[in-house]
Amino acid sequence: MRSVIDILDFSVAELDELISTALDIIENSKKYAHICEGKKLATLFFEPSTRTRLSFEAAMYELGGNVLGFSESNSSSAAKGESIADTAKTVSCYADIIAMRHPKEGAALVASNNATVPVINAGDGGHCHPTQTLADLLTIRRAKGGFNGLTVGLCGDLKFGRTVHSLINALSRYNNINFVLISPEELKLPSYVKKDVLQKNNIPYTQTTDLEAAMPSLDILYMTRVQRERFFNEEDYLRLKDSYILTPDKLKNAKPDLSILHPLPRVNEISVAIDNDPRACYFKQVLNGKYMRMALILKLLKEAGTI
Ligand code: NCD
Repeated sequence: MRSVIDILDFSVAELDELISTALDIIENSKKYAHICEGKKLATLFFEPSTRTRLSFEAAMYELGGNVLGFSESNSSSAAKGESIADTAKTVSCYADIIAMRHPKEGAALVASNNATVPVINAGDGGHCHPTQTLADLLTIRRAKGGFNGLTVGLCGDLKFGRTVHSLINALSRYNNINFVLISPEELKLPSYVKKDVLQKNNIPYTQTTDLEAAMPSLDILYMTRVQRERFFNEEDYLRLKDSYILTPDKLKNAKPDLSILHPLPRVNEISVAIDNDPRACYFKQVLNGKYMRMALILKLLKEAGTI
């Protein structure tokens, strides 16, 4: 049973295929409106979410399917001490596919080892978030036409930001990508990502604390929120939370065709004054997330022989 835990579960050819399907859905939505009739998606969200959960649900509805699930761990039997394994076995009796978000790294993997239907990781702690990366990839592809040769700035909480870890993994497989890692000292990219992904694949990267100095070189600027829920103490969070605030002034030296992405939710990282700048892509990213999740649900249900 094929599940999706990590973005590396997909080959580059499969990522391209998912992007092509999403582009076709955008052009020909009617063709897809009934494909999942009678099928059910379960959304098991043990952590807060707006976009990821609702876009999974919207995706399934737009494919003609139905949705069940919960959006708070304390409204499920997890609050009574049920294990992830038992929850996964149980939900497999009701649904054809599961999307799960959990605060613990590895939770989706445990679920996938016990479910009898495909499991999609909708975020596991500070580890990874493959479907956000699918949204990011479609956004970059639509803005830039491709991935090769881009200079990608990742800014903010690179330590706990699971979307950053998954995006680096995905982009590292395209040609001539160059990363600029912009963060406070305390929130630098974990060394396992640096060693196992960047250094292992000889991918050029620089690390800096200075967003404005990096700005002129960037084709993509991926802003992120400081991940309050992963901090051990509130004081550190308060000290670091406003490390980077993108304002129109800071874009003075940016390329005219820069694309600004953010997985959202934004707290203070991007001034609302930038929302109408043509370079702002973060709400397009939200919509792209729905199309990519439609493509993903279709692929997994087809491979499982469910549709
Ligand atoms: C991200 C997440 O949950 O990791 N949000 C999302 O899914 N769009 C980013 C974040 O919470 O900062």
